[in-house]
Amino acid sequence: LGLWVDARERMAFMGILARHGFVRDKECAFRLRSGEIRVAQLSAEVLEVGGELCSVTVARDITEQRKAQEGLRKALQETKTAELKLEEALSQSRQREREVGALLGGARTVLETTDLTATMRSLYESCKLLVGAKAGYVSLLSREGDQMELIFLDSGGEDCQVPPETPMPIRGLRAQAMVSRAPVIENDFRNTPFPGLLPPGHQELRSVLFVPLMVEGKVMGLLGLANKPGGFTEVDAGLAMAFGELGAVALQNSRNLEALREREEQLRSLVDTAQDAIVSVDSRGLIVMWNPAAQRMFGYESCEILGQPLEILVPERLREAHRRGLSRAKEPEGTMSMGRTLEVLALSKQGVEFPVELSLAKWRSRGESFFTGIIRDVTERRRAQEAIKKAQEELEEKVVERTAELARANQALLEEIAWRSRVEEQLQSSQEELKRLSAAILSAQEKERKQLAREIHDSVGQILAAVKFATERALLELPGSEGGVRPVLEDVVAMVQGAIEEVRRIQMDLRPAVLDDLGLLATIGWFCREFQKVYQGIQVERRLQVEEQQVPDGLKIVIFRVLQEAMNNAAKHSGADRVVVGMVGGDSELSLWVEDNGKGMDLGNTASAVSHGRMGILSMRERVELSGGSFFLESEPGKGTRVGGRWSISEGGDMETRGRGDTETRRHGDAETR
Ligand SMILES: Nc1ncnc2c1ncn2[C@@H]1O[C@H](COP(=O)(O)OP(=O)(O)OP(=O)(O)O)[C@@H](O)[C@H]1O
Ligand SMILES: [Mg+2]
Repeated sequence: LGLWVDARERMAFMGILARHGFVRDKECAFRLRSGEIRVAQLSAEVLEVGGELCSVTVARDITEQRKAQEGLRKALQETKTAELKLEEALSQSRQREREVGALLGGARTVLETTDLTATMRSLYESCKLLVGAKAGYVSLLSREGDQMELIFLDSGGEDCQVPPETPMPIRGLRAQAMVSRAPVIENDFRNTPFPGLLPPGHQELRSVLFVPLMVEGKVMGLLGLANKPGGFTEVDAGLAMAFGELGAVALQNSRNLEALREREEQLRSLVDTAQDAIVSVDSRGLIVMWNPAAQRMFGYESCEILGQPLEILVPERLREAHRRGLSRAKEPEGTMSMGRTLEVLALSKQGVEFPVELSLAKWRSRGESFFTGIIRDVTERRRAQEAIKKAQEELEEKVVERTAELARANQALLEEIAWRSRVEEQLQSSQEELKRLSAAILSAQEKERKQLAREIHDSVGQILAAVKFATERALLELPGSEGGVRPVLEDVVAMVQGAIEEVRRIQMDLRPAVLDDLGLLATIGWFCREFQKVYQGIQVERRLQVEEQQVPDGLKIVIFRVLQEAMNNAAKHSGADRVVVGMVGGDSELSLWVEDNGKGMDLGNTASAVSHGRMGILSMRERVELSGGSFFLESEPGKGTRVGGRWSISEGGDMETRGRGDTETRRHGDAETR
């Protein structure tokens, strides 16, 4: 057996053996030579052999048995632990099951119940039971969002004196839960400042748990639980939060339902008040909706038409086509007439056919196809269209007639225009003829005047000169210086002299010989001097910036005649005390003007002057224009008169035709008026 592992064990063994004479089944440990330790069961007896005391010991090696026993014991212990764990897991799983069951029940309630208060109550009850709370409530945020409104309160059988309508301001732990959007637990409520916030008569609160109800991330309400014996745990908070979420879904559902109802209400009133008939049929073509406008249009009450086939509203001969159309529309791709507007014939209850405009929409509900038609009676429109068409046709006819008339009128007009232009041409040529005639008359007149002047000079002039000479000779030869016929003869000489001067004046008036002999400037000088002699009250000023050779010969008599008439007019009519005669000669232009500071005139009256036989102004204009110049007359009552002409001179010193007939008659200070 080797050595005893424990020496005290050996001593005890020996002691028992010595005392009792035997030892039964004593377990002892021995170390083998190999160092291994083994357990043996020893039984020993003391024997007397030949007076000698000795002992017999039987050792049974029970090492393997003990090992097996130890293994068994350990295994047993582990099984126990596992059993305990299993138990715990089972209990947890049962709790989970309860929780899940309660949540599932809650979810079912949310889905099945449309009454928000009932749903909230049921959720609350499940939660309260699961968590083990004694009391609680559910409240929602008011529309204004400034306080809570109680949906219900459960005092859990305790006395609570607070009236349900007492305002619930958002403060304290409630506010904490709403702001943090997370559960709030307080298991020592009595030792917080919050009991002070409770309204009088409120039941005693020992522990509280608040969770927010959130819809789309917004806090909409609160679930409150109170008085759980032993206080609320995090697990309770998680559970309450889950019920809170269900409550939020219920709230959301109820809001959606409300909105849906409102929308449905709106749709219904739209359909009921629509002017157009709105009719829906199911996939069999049976009418399922019929609005008041449809009733008015077709004459059927909704109670008699609902469930009837739509083809009742279609004229008999068109029903086959209608059926075909409906079955085509039922096919999945059968959108032929969908969304379009059709014009078709409809049949009323009274059997009257009328045209309607129909737009169709297809929709599905619970796997079935439905069709809705919006129908408008277009009888009036058709009538109006036909009236418009007729009016248009009439109009077209009228347009055709009118066009023909216009063409005729146009033709007549064209003819008239052609005739007018012929007449105009004739007029123009007559006018030119007249001008030529006028010019011829003027030049004939000038020629005649010239001839007359020469005749007078050569005949009467010579005779008078001869008479004067003879009479003077007779006077010289008359004896005696006084008396007799002498005074008579002397008177005759004076008279003849007067006659000679008169003849010369007439002659000059007719045609100043100076003009031909000495030129225009000399003639103007002579005329001004003569004028000055006659009209001594008028001061004549000459401003002649022109050389004799700058004036074309043909123009000289014209300029002289204009000057003569203008100065005579100034003397006769203006009452002026000053007359300026001006001429400016240039390379390309020549002008003459006579200006007085007299009373002036109203140019509007010059035409009437002509009609009164006054020819002065007219003849000045005619002379200027016939010689290719432009005449001007500027005057205003009280502001004097300026009259004259302008001629363009070409290089050869000739008159140009430019400006022919371009006459100006303007008032002073109104240079643009012609
Ligand atoms: N320088 C002037 N100042 C004021 N009035 C004038 C002047 N020149 C013409 N008139 C007015 O214009 C009118 C027409 O003049 P016009 O020379 O055509 O005729 P007349 O001198 O009256 O007659 P005649 O035919 O002898 O020339 C005159 O009667 C006169 O009233
Ligand atoms: Mg005159």
